Order: sequence, then C-alpha cells, then structure tokens
Amino acid sequence: MTRQRPAPEADPLTRPDMEAILGGRRMRRNRRTDWSRRLVRENTLTVDDLIWPIFLVDGDSVTQAVPSMPGVDRLSVDRAVAAATRAAALRIPAIALFPYTDPDLRDPSGSEAINPDNLVCAATRAIKAAVPEVGIVVDVALDPYTSHGHDGLMVGEEIVNDATVEQLCIQALIQAEAGADVIAPSDMMDGRVGAIRRALDMKGFGHVQIMAYTAKYASAFYGPFRDAVGTAKTLTGDKRTYQMDPANGDEALREAELDVAEGADLLMVKPGMPYLDILWRIKEAFGLPTFAYQVSGEYAMIEAAARNGWIDGERAMMESLTAFKRAGADGILTYFAPRVAEKLSG
Ligand code: PBG
Repeated sequence: MTRQRPAPEADPLTRPDMEAILGGRRMRRNRRTDWSRRLVRENTLTVDDLIWPIFLVDGDSVTQAVPSMPGVDRLSVDRAVAAATRAAALRIPAIALFPYTDPDLRDPSGSEAINPDNLVCAATRAIKAAVPEVGIVVDVALDPYTSHGHDGLMVGEEIVNDATVEQLCIQALIQAEAGADVIAPSDMMDGRVGAIRRALDMKGFGHVQIMAYTAKYASAFYGPFRDAVGTAKTLTGDKRTYQMDPANGDEALREAELDVAEGADLLMVKPGMPYLDILWRIKEAFGLPTFAYQVSGEYAMIEAAARNGWIDGERAMMESLTAFKRAGADGILTYFAPRVAEKLSG
C-alpha cells in the first residue's frame, strides 16, 4: 500500500499564495546586490565620528598593557604624543585622556587633580605642542586621584556635592590652562556643568567646550577602565549615590535638560550599547551634538569573544559602532578608534 501525498500545490500550508500575501512588495529586492545595498544604506560610520580614549602613566618610553583590555596600553607622555600623532595621521578628530595616577600621589581629597603639573596637564601641553590639530578631551572627576576611588570628596560615608564642584572647577581651569579643548565632567555631581562654564568664562576660557557626561549610569561595564586607571582596588563601595540607576530612562532626559540649561555644548551617554534607547531619546529631545561612550567593558567583551574565536571581532567592532550612528550618535568614544580609522582609510 503506498501512502498518498497531497499534491504540493493543493496544500495552502506548504505552498501559500505568495502573490496574495506580498502583492509584489518584496523587501529583499533592494538587498540582492552589493551596489544596491550600498545605495540604500542609511547610516555610515566615518573617521570623523571617532574620539580615541588614551590612558596615561608616569615615566619615559613606557607602554604598559592593560590585561582586561587586550590591545589597549597605558602610555607615558612621550608615547601619548606618538599616539596623538598617529591619531592626526589617521584624521581622528579628538583624543580623550585618562591618567593612571601613582598610588603615592592619591589622597582623600584628590589633591593631585588640581596640580597644574599632573600627568593629564603635562600630556595635554606636550600633545598640543606636537599636534595642535588634534582635539583634546579631558575628564573632570576626582576618582583617578582619590585614595577611596570616588569621583567626589567624602565626608564620612557621603560624597558631598557642592564642595566637590568647587574642586572640579579648579581641575577644569588647570586643564584649560594646559591647553585642553574640551572639558568632560564625568563625576555626575549636580550643577557642575554650570559651575565649570562660569569658571571657564571668568578666566578667559570662553572658547573651551564642555562635553557633559549627561546620562552616566552606575554600570558594571566600567570594570576594565578601573583596572586601567588603578581604581578597581581603591574604590570603596559603589557609585550609586551619584551615577544613574540603570533602570531609569525618563530621568536621563531631566539630566539632559539641566546640562543644556547649564551650558553644555556636547552631550554624552555612557555606557553605550546597553543604553541606545537613552541616546536616541536625548538626541531626539534636544538635538544637540550627542555622543556615546563605548566603555571598557563593552570593548573587553568584544575583544575577549573575538580572541576566543567565538565571534568575528572585526565585524562586531564595525557593527557595534554603526549601531551608535543608527541610534543618533554624532560620534563615539571608543577604544577601537585607531583600528577603525585604519580600516576605514583602507
Ligand atoms: C571616572 C570615569 C569612568 C569612566 C570614564 N570616566 C569610570 C567610573 O565612573 O568609575 C569609564 C570609562 C570606561 O569604562 O571605559 N569618572
């Protein structure tokens, strides 16, 4: 006895009437060829979108690997000048400087942050002298300088807001004096953007831009960065009384509103990929130049998986950065910057 199969054309489940369903509307038509895919592409990553974060360390001719960020090094000032020169050659618009401060120089009040000869100021001066065409973004916060690893001053268990802001203004001023182009407060104290703007304007630095870490979340993705600047071990407790709760979105819009009112020129969302919704909302609501920080943990995840052969690292790098553009970013701070710039320049 042979089992009878129904004629395929008679079975609406295996052979539905595609014309009735599609009516000629086939999305794949535009995807068939490379030229067509390029023609309909909505977002393009270019070298002009990149800011390259660089870690600094004391010494001469020092390149020190950061184990939790494979491919990223701490650089002495001379090597940082070389990196900035490479950035200029690749036409990367700007670099961002972060110091690994000698543990002996860290104290409860982060006094090294307001030393005009500290590592960041020394590097800024040297880089400005060698490659003036590269923008220099400097971080304003006390964490690389405090013995407790917090971004602000501590009184008992509390991170005190207003006294911290006072010190951040001094930090911003010495950095501007050293030649920094963009002051980037990452501390999340209330009112710091307005206070820094006033201080800069009063001292003749009206041209210096402020990139506000507008929505900076209390995130697990900063881990490798804390290794790089040496705060992983010093940090006591967590940063949840000043950095944002990862569960909140509306609150980021209120932060943005304040930063805009206080005079921020550029806004930033951090971390990056887990917070694309926040990036999109802030860009939509305010229309200011808005940046994403693809943070150390995001970089480390992509690199670790790539080095294990679990993902195609090169493609993941490009895809992640393209996603920021699609979500409305005007630019991205990324540790991949030199690699991407090299790839884009062919
Ligand atoms: C410190 C600061 C942090 C980052 C940038 N500035 C870490 C933190 O808040 O603990 C994180 C950057 C990264 O993870 O790549 N104010």
